[in-house]
Amino acid sequence: MTHAATINTTSSLMQLQHWTLAPDADHPQLLWATIQTQGDGLNTLSAAVLNEFADILDHLDESPPAGLIIASGKASGFIAGAAIEEFKLVDTTEKAVALVERGWRLFHRLAAVPYPTLALIQGACLGGGLELALACRYRIAVDTPTTRLGLPEVLLGIIPAWGGMHWLPKRIGPQAALNLMLTGKSVDARRAKKMGLVDLVVAPRVMASSARGLVLSAKPSTQASGIKALMNQPVLRPIVAHMARKQLMRKVRQDHYPAPYAILKLWQSADGNALRMPELLDHIVRSPTAANLVRVFFLQERLKALGKAPAQGGAAMAHVHVIGAGTMGGDIAAWCALRGLKVTLQDQTVEHMQPALARAQKLFAKRLRDRYARRAASDRLIPDPQGHGMAHADLVLEAIYEDPDAKRQLLATIESRAQPHAVIASNTSSLRIEDLRTALQRPERLVGIHFFNPVALMPLVEVIEAPGVDGSVLQQAMQFVRAIDKLPLPVKSAPGFLVNAVLAPYMLAAMRKVDSQVSAHSIDQAMLDFGMPMGPLMLADTVGLDIVLAAGRSLTPDASTDAVPECLQDRVSAGHLGKKTGQGFYTWKHGKATGPGSLPQTRHGPISDQAHALAYELVAPLVARTQQLVNEGLVADADLADAGVIFGTGFAPFRGGPLHWSNTDKQG
Ligand code: NAI
Repeated sequence: MTHAATINTTSSLMQLQHWTLAPDADHPQLLWATIQTQGDGLNTLSAAVLNEFADILDHLDESPPAGLIIASGKASGFIAGAAIEEFKLVDTTEKAVALVERGWRLFHRLAAVPYPTLALIQGACLGGGLELALACRYRIAVDTPTTRLGLPEVLLGIIPAWGGMHWLPKRIGPQAALNLMLTGKSVDARRAKKMGLVDLVVAPRVMASSARGLVLSAKPSTQASGIKALMNQPVLRPIVAHMARKQLMRKVRQDHYPAPYAILKLWQSADGNALRMPELLDHIVRSPTAANLVRVFFLQERLKALGKAPAQGGAAMAHVHVIGAGTMGGDIAAWCALRGLKVTLQDQTVEHMQPALARAQKLFAKRLRDRYARRAASDRLIPDPQGHGMAHADLVLEAIYEDPDAKRQLLATIESRAQPHAVIASNTSSLRIEDLRTALQRPERLVGIHFFNPVALMPLVEVIEAPGVDGSVLQQAMQFVRAIDKLPLPVKSAPGFLVNAVLAPYMLAAMRKVDSQVSAHSIDQAMLDFGMPMGPLMLADTVGLDIVLAAGRSLTPDASTDAVPECLQDRVSAGHLGKKTGQGFYTWKHGKATGPGSLPQTRHGPISDQAHALAYELVAPLVARTQQLVNEGLVADADLADAGVIFGTGFAPFRGGPLHWSNTDKQG
């Protein structure tokens, strides 16, 4: 059902492809501009869509209505943003200026019309979509779980230059506005109301009547007041910007991510008008960051599409049975329940499950604001020590100890109890699917579904395909991963799959440097300077040095050149396993690294030649192994490998992936 049906308008006043402009059935002086861009996708603001909107404004200049309500005709949401594929064409400053002008001028025109305007927002209202809404006199957010408002441009390495930087601070105050713009985070309908981003939050059934009432109310438009308004004053802006900049500098380097720094500067010095500082646009266009982040966006879309359900057929997975409520199984179960699946969770006893259930409550409390939603998620997660759920589940996932015999025995039991059509999956990280499935009567039913730790934070899940696996099982596994809002990466069965296989030589290379007397601090600092989210030794401490040692042994094909580093062997022998024992390459207290000495951190200014060379030397084995695995056909192509390494390891996203970086802009 489209929203247009709820809205109840008469026929369109203009011949348009992406919009309809129609009088309200009850108040013919009131018009609805309903966006419904061609195609099934979300509404986005391509040049064609904006041009048509300009035609609408031209038409209304001739005969101004009593009010204009802008709404979406698609149930999938309001407007997801600008048409990102058009960014790929922006490779010169002139083109960037033209793109900015297009939206900035149009939305300022909208803001200046003499009749009242209102954006009726249901679903995603992001980027250019929110900028359009900010240009209206009023905004109403419909209170549904999919409604999100935000300016995520920075995540693509670009800036909200169609008016977002200008209007958002005025509406909600600069602190909240900068927080949204610099992080790219979005907020739900109720939060948007609380922060003054929208005038009203309403239930879907009253959205049309509320919109009519408000747009004709003649109420003044809401603006930030009090201290929030004060902080927008030109004299105070430098102070606010300075504080925000200090926070930003703790997180990202300006040469890696120029866009957030540009946003701050533009708000402080040009009232958010990028056309007044074309040199900043030039800087953004010249840095490879925006192009690479747009590339990463499309890689992400590609992974999402791999897990898309076919148009017809294939019942959605509703019930998952997870066996093993340890670190992984417990967190996978909680995540699936959070994402709306019914989950039965099995372990040897209820006591074994207690820590996992407690962690699940914490996850629900953190991710779900609404207490009814929290309770519903808890209700979906059912402790099941007897394993009754196995007989009803659409997917049974084992995540017990990494013991091949125990797993084989369990898999045979699963096959005897599960429904014939249920998918059987293992979360093993080091055992061969081929070896585990020998226990099954129908071995083609077993697929690897390899999550990463911590489950809630890691977006990637590898879906492991052993030779001869049933294609529909594989596809269902991919759809399951997507249904719980993770990114599925299909990988052939091989030791370490993709992500651990490329991480192992990189981490071992870092440890060999420690063996040759380079300090852990300078190694990790060099990799932070390169753009990794965490240095390799901090990562090793976090994973556990015993696990790194075992993985290193099984994932280093050539024992002569890939001998286990002494520093690793010594620490494991001494029982210094990293974070979990309090001592590794770092000293850990209360789950946080404390020393020795100062810890590696995001730093600014030029990177020394030494640190630069060290980073390149350390990352080389990761790049080489990624290329090797592509050559061997472990992943379908280089782009998918880049996607896997970015989303599975956090590999510096602004570099566009290890292979892309190595083949193109390695000079960075
Ligand atoms: P864990 O040791 O934390 O948990 C294993 C759980 O399985 C324990 O609670 C245990 O009581 C239960 N269990 C053992 N045998 C059982 C049986 N027959 N029936 C019911 N429950 C049983 O292990 P963890 O770390 O969660 O690993 C589980 C699997 O996930 C392994 O295959 C591991 O390779 C894989 N994995 C682990 C990652 C990690 O970072 N820990 C990352 C990715 C995969």
